Amino acid sequence: MRAAITATGHYVPPETYPNAYFERRLETTDAWIRSRTGIAERRFMSVGGTSDLIVPAARRCLDVRGISPTAVDCIIVATMTPDRLCPSTAAVVQRKLGAVHAWGFDLAGACSGFVYGLVVATKLVESGAARRVLLSGADRMSSVVDPQDRATAVLFGDGAGTVLVEPVEDESVGILDHVCRMNGEGEAALYIPAGGSVEPASVDSVAKRRHFVVQDGPAVFKAAVTGMAEVTEEVLKRNDVTVADLTWLVPHQANRRIIEAVAKRLGLGLDRVILNLDRYGNTVGATIPIALSEWNEQGRLAPGDRLVLSAFGAGFTAGSIYLRWAIA
Ligand code: UT7
Repeated sequence: MRAAITATGHYVPPETYPNAYFERRLETTDAWIRSRTGIAERRFMSVGGTSDLIVPAARRCLDVRGISPTAVDCIIVATMTPDRLCPSTAAVVQRKLGAVHAWGFDLAGACSGFVYGLVVATKLVESGAARRVLLSGADRMSSVVDPQDRATAVLFGDGAGTVLVEPVEDESVGILDHVCRMNGEGEAALYIPAGGSVEPASVDSVAKRRHFVVQDGPAVFKAAVTGMAEVTEEVLKRNDVTVADLTWLVPHQANRRIIEAVAKRLGLGLDRVILNLDRYGNTVGATIPIALSEWNEQGRLAPGDRLVLSAFGAGFTAGSIYLRWAIA
């Protein structure tokens, strides 16, 4: 049985923060942020948790498909900013949506979380273990980014993207293959020191600002270019798809220069690369599903289009998915 994305939805908070907002607070400039990252503005939610980003995205996704939340039988939330460490954000989303027949869980893959989650959702559907999987990539990064650290504060944003994964009759479309990798040697290059079991929250951990994201930007940059290019090349090769055959590359949106370097290495023109990080910054688990949802709603994806989703993030994690678009 083939699995496919049959509906999409996304949500970003209304509060927009342009680069000028940081110019007033940190030693940075609009010119630096634009030229080094390609980001012009991002969204931060003022109240609520990651589940509150997911619920409107999920409602939109189910509405366009014309099905009730009670028809969903599994919810997967790919996030690094769960509402709480316990219970799962998937359980909170289940309650808020009224998806009373769904089981589910959170998946911690950082920026590769949506790609990993789509592999899991696909296998659940292909095996018959689930018929309708609601997969969200969502992060409220404003809850874990240090507003005083110019090296990270300007990069991230809040948002959620959701897809529905279902069986399809037509075997020529749907999710066709994936390449997933992990290299735990990358831990120190991108992590949140405290708040987990190694360093539980304490007065000291808060005073030392150890609950915020720490990143060695240049190290992650280099690993991201190589990692994303490799998983993309591998999934294309395994499926005898040439770069010329590809309709869209849908890369994780962390830095425009990373995406340009990957596209150049592949020999792919930027006119076939989905880019929206100028408006949202890096929304971590949400970048790829937001991009898919936007392009879908704008009518820029056609049935049979060949897409490669490609991600790289903390861990290090990396993953690519080759799919042919199924939504008419
Ligand atoms: O999504 C998860 C994976 N994450 C990523 O993929 C992020 C990967 N890394 C990056 O995107 C880039 O490394 C950054 C955007 C984070 C940084 O860009 P960079 O070109 O690698 O800059 P850098 O870290 O080498 O810093 C260059 C200079 C430094 O100053 P000095 O030492 O040359 O005097 C920084 O202190 O830029 C300085 N700098 C800034 N200046 C103005 C760092 N952040 C800022 C800032 N405004 N916001």
